Amino acid sequence: MNGQVKLLAIESSCDDTSAAVLINGKVLSNRVAGQDVHRDYGGVVPELASRAHQQHIVPVVATALKEAGIAASELDAIAYTRGPGLMGSLLVGSSFAKGLAVSLGIPLIPVDHMDAHVLAHFIDEPHPSFPFLCLVVSGGHTQLVKVQDVHTLEIIGRTGDDAAGEAFDKSAKLLGLPYPGGPLIDEYARNGNPLAFRFNTSRMPGYDYSFSGLKTSILYFLRDEKAKNPAFIAENLHDLCASIQYTIVEYLLQNLVKASEELGIQEVGIAGGVSANSYLRKRLEELGKEMGWNTYLPDFRYCTDNAAMIGISGHFRFLAGETGELSDRPFARQS
Ligand code: KG4
Ligand code: ZN
Repeated sequence: MNGQVKLLAIESSCDDTSAAVLINGKVLSNRVAGQDVHRDYGGVVPELASRAHQQHIVPVVATALKEAGIAASELDAIAYTRGPGLMGSLLVGSSFAKGLAVSLGIPLIPVDHMDAHVLAHFIDEPHPSFPFLCLVVSGGHTQLVKVQDVHTLEIIGRTGDDAAGEAFDKSAKLLGLPYPGGPLIDEYARNGNPLAFRFNTSRMPGYDYSFSGLKTSILYFLRDEKAKNPAFIAENLHDLCASIQYTIVEYLLQNLVKASEELGIQEVGIAGGVSANSYLRKRLEELGKEMGWNTYLPDFRYCTDNAAMIGISGHFRFLAGETGELSDRPFARQS
């Protein structure tokens, strides 16, 4: 090992195939191959995702190793996403990781995808101190996580139905925008009035969330307005996007403020695909100043799914001696 830890990390939980190489926790390469095949379907089609992972995984891993200037034979371990995610997609990444680890005679490190989104904050300086409160908002999950240290992550709030990313994507679909609609809502919202329209959100106990009421509220509002004016969406697209984005982001931030106050935590961050949202990023910074928080926004490369975050998570686990077994099976849902 020469005192160095050389890790290959593989992420394949949803519709991005990614491979990264890390030496001593520093990212040397982080390749991501997206999948355009889902565009026409308005969402990720699991079977197509698995097939695309199979096409992408060999070239993506080869490019990540080449870019890092590392031969596979120099690797000390392989970290991979064990779950949660789409089973077929996880099987491609985990089987590839297992095969390569066996052939190289090196250990495997199974990594939890949601933990990895949070731990992406420990890739570059400055790192959050502990305890750290992180709002993880992705296409599949919405969680408020209390991080005691890099091995102790406690989910203190979660959504009972749709995730924040899904709320963005489904709202975008109602507006006739293509998948994934989150980034498009962000874009159109820049020239819109966030207070033009009001939509309902549901009050939930503790630090939990629910987005199904919002979806219904948008659906009925659009149906009624379109009945009066068939061009309503086209004429109000920017205001609609700004108002939807405002509603989702302010709703997300309520529990973050509540948890910070109740738990006395001043180290506060966001993670996951939706943390790329420009309004959420701006509001977190503003709130941070108001509340006296140290705020942490992930680099755009580490917001949406990527293998670098699997790598940093794997690095911490490797140092703690937490390696996995060939018999470890991927899991679609968190237990
Ligand atoms: O973390 P991620 O890449 O994949 C999952 O693990 O789900 O998150 C993808 C989600 C999608 O729902 C996408 O619409 C959303 O992140 N997203 C955004 C933005 N960029 C990505 N939502 C709002 N604004 C954005 N700028
Ligand atoms: Zn993710």
